Amino acid sequence: MNGLDFHHQRSAQERPGTLWYSARLVILLGPPGAGKGTQAQRLAQQSGLQHLSTGDMLRDNLRHATELGKMATPFINEGRLVPDDIVLGMVQDRIAQSDCVNGFILDGFPRTLAQARGLERICRVYKSKSITVVNLVVHPDTLVRRLTNRRICKLSGHIYHLIDHPPIQNGICDVDGSELMQRPDDNEDVIRERIRTYECHTRPLIDYYAARGLLCRVEAMGHPDAVSSEIKTLLDRQEPTKQEARSSPPLATRVNESLGK
Ligand code: AP5
Ligand code: MG
Repeated sequence: MNGLDFHHQRSAQERPGTLWYSARLVILLGPPGAGKGTQAQRLAQQSGLQHLSTGDMLRDNLRHATELGKMATPFINEGRLVPDDIVLGMVQDRIAQSDCVNGFILDGFPRTLAQARGLERICRVYKSKSITVVNLVVHPDTLVRRLTNRRICKLSGHIYHLIDHPPIQNGICDVDGSELMQRPDDNEDVIRERIRTYECHTRPLIDYYAARGLLCRVEAMGHPDAVSSEIKTLLDRQEPTKQEARSSPPLATRVNESLGK
């Protein structure tokens, strides 16, 4: 039995199959610096959905020097992707927790076709129905400027930009007063490698989700408020009524139907 099968069996034993029946999943796609974290934090605050960032989870492991963190360190520092099975296992464990029961926002996951297929298998187990993939579209020239000027709060990960969204007090988070830091992978060489990695492994997911009728494009060059409001409008438009959530077939069924399976 592989890890995924084990997780399926364990989830089925621990939770009824209807657990996610009306839960909402939002996937934020986009290159490094597109604003996935910025928008996920805002959306989580507005909607009550859990914000799940695989980058944050990995950095948390790294900070606590766990085995997973030690294994992931060279990949993160070099701007390469952590292997799929590690990331999938980590996500599966996280979304099995009770605070995800009403839905969650995935930031930085999936990032490869294998991860997307893994997520689809998980959704089938949980009978999840409402998935929206938001593709944040930005001009490539802005990414390096955004990332080299990013600072994040050490305590809770609140995101700043030294020029466009500086903290009130230099080096201090406006929200919780903790120290701001620069991510070690936010140096220009690693940023460029991360962008290359995105182009090679993650961009194909745009076609993958478009073919499944799940993709929504959002222009993410404007002010973060404007981007948030566009995302909110499109999610409001797509929100299933309680009746639909109960009666429509699960996403996996719809996907299989659309593929003629
Ligand atoms: P991760 O932490 O996910 O980094 P990333 O994908 O490179 O994305 P970023 O966090 O850099 O950018 P963002 O889109 O969140 O932008 P943000 O909102 O912060 O992953 C790090 C590493 O972990 C990977 O390289 C990999 O090694 C590993 N990893 C993670 N997930 C993995 C997975 N699934 N599989 C394998 N490996 C994985 O904004 C950036 C800046 O822009 C900020 O300063 C912000 O203030 C500013 N900004 C945001 N929006 C706007 C706007 N509209 N206008 C102006 N400025 C803006
Ligand atoms: Mg991020």
